[in-house]
Amino acid sequence: MATLENPSAGPGPGQSAAAAATVRMRGITKNYGETVANSGVDFDLHRGEIHALLGENGAGKTTLMNILFGLVLPESGEIWVGDDQVALPGPQDAFGRGIGMVHQHFMLVQRFTVAENVVLGSVRPWNVKLRRHRIERDVRSAAERFGIALDPRAKIRDLPVDTQQRVEILKLLYRGARILILDEPTSSLGPAQIAGLFATLRELRDAGHSIVIVTHKLGEVMQIADRVTVLRAGKNVLSVAKGGFDERTLARAMTGRELEGLPPKTRIGDTAPLLRLRDLVVHAGTRLHAVHGVSFDVQAGEILGIAGVEGNGQRELVDALAGVLKIESGEVIVEGKDLTAASPRDRHRAGVSVIPEDRHGWGLVLDMTVAENLALADVPAGRFSHRGLLRPRSIREHAKQLLAEYDVRPPDPDLRVLSLSGGNQQKLVLARELSRGPRLLIAANPTQGLDVGAAAYVQRRLIAVREAGNAVLLVSHDLDELFKLADRIIVLYRGKVLYESSIGSVSMDELALAMAGRAPGEGVRADPELVEIAEMEAER
Ligand SMILES: Nc1ncnc2c1ncn2[C@@H]1O[C@H](COP(=O)(O)OP(=O)(O)O)[C@@H](O)[C@H]1O
Ligand SMILES: [Mg+2]
Repeated sequence: MATLENPSAGPGPGQSAAAAATVRMRGITKNYGETVANSGVDFDLHRGEIHALLGENGAGKTTLMNILFGLVLPESGEIWVGDDQVALPGPQDAFGRGIGMVHQHFMLVQRFTVAENVVLGSVRPWNVKLRRHRIERDVRSAAERFGIALDPRAKIRDLPVDTQQRVEILKLLYRGARILILDEPTSSLGPAQIAGLFATLRELRDAGHSIVIVTHKLGEVMQIADRVTVLRAGKNVLSVAKGGFDERTLARAMTGRELEGLPPKTRIGDTAPLLRLRDLVVHAGTRLHAVHGVSFDVQAGEILGIAGVEGNGQRELVDALAGVLKIESGEVIVEGKDLTAASPRDRHRAGVSVIPEDRHGWGLVLDMTVAENLALADVPAGRFSHRGLLRPRSIREHAKQLLAEYDVRPPDPDLRVLSLSGGNQQKLVLARELSRGPRLLIAANPTQGLDVGAAAYVQRRLIAVREAGNAVLLVSHDLDELFKLADRIIVLYRGKVLYESSIGSVSMDELALAMAGRAPGEGVRADPELVEIAEMEAER
């Protein structure tokens, strides 16, 4: 195993405040052609801390960590590990210094067992075959030593994503890593899984490991970080210890500007349900988790949030409401009108706007211009025509206004949509749907992938829809977002409603349990069969 610990690490470059640092990066610069990925970045990782590396998409986080893991060579800059200035031309060199990294996309061999994956890279291949038994014993004892629950004999492909992640972490520890880098480790986890990961990280920290967690989520930084470094456009704009930061400071550092806060929630009075869903059943090919008898109402002036781990019927529910997936049985009533069998166009006419998660459902015509796409939905309604003739000037003016409002880049109405990035296409769809003034807005993860500034803008727009007395159904994987926006929240699990609460009285524990498939106790709609399945699964 690698050793690099030297508790009396002398002051390397810089001041004595850096004495606790186990890693010091100084003046790291890396360009990709015209793109400045890292520009003179200083970064200190202290011994025994969880350090969040925070920044918007493209801020340079992954590049900086790839440099520390020896995957990318910087053009200039120094790296110190403990007392030594080091060169890290490859991951082997990083491992030699006790540095390990879990990438955003795991790099496990799916058809191998846990034990085989853990020892891969540490043991020569012929050993793997000859000493399977010993390897399994070894890995089991390593797992116990580090407090990581794993069955060494399980095949990777049979394991849920959070367990695979534990395998990646154990693999690094097994190789002797004392410095762990995790790149966006929560991006594919549900809240219960995130809680599990964070518990593991805290234990490792308390045992003296130093951990970098790369993230763009402020909520996570507040939860887990002992210190945080914020990158913006390739530069370190803030490094600060716990107690010295709050969400607002961090958001400002990330975006470089003051984010307008969300308006306070006003109470909704008693209004009529705008959307009534009764016993909705939707099949989805051979997929197991479609929608199995879901009923709920959304009131006018209300945002109803739908939480749940991805793949529990959210997508099918949204598609069914959009009219692009067949409804097997049940009813969809919007403002008293039965839309169960209505076409997407008729739903649109009835004031229903849908922002699906999947870009194929966005209804953009890639080959047409931005302005044309923005006008498309309104053309049948006659908004842009005069005596049956389209008016290109007003179409362009309308587009320009929306492009500026939604910060679509570049804000050129004549550009063809296919030349916009995914994030900007998404903003375009939001602009198109929200500008129609929908009566019922159905939005699936509308801010996913957007930068903090754009996301905050979209969130304010959703609130504006609600404030105007309309209804919003918000499907989101992001609990922070649901808490900020929703008046009520329900959890979908395997196509059923497993939890429902007004936002003021949500129990976080029950919510997390419901997302993991366990119907909690009192006052909650539970399906006994599902509870049984969940319990059986928990015991397996
Ligand atoms: N291999 C690469 N080739 C070209 N450009 C890259 C490469 N890796 C990263 N970049 C660019 O460098 C910038 C920083 O990227 P990255 O470090 O991945 O940011 P983050 O992890 O914060 O999202 C981005 O503009 C990205 O497009
Ligand atoms: Mg990244």
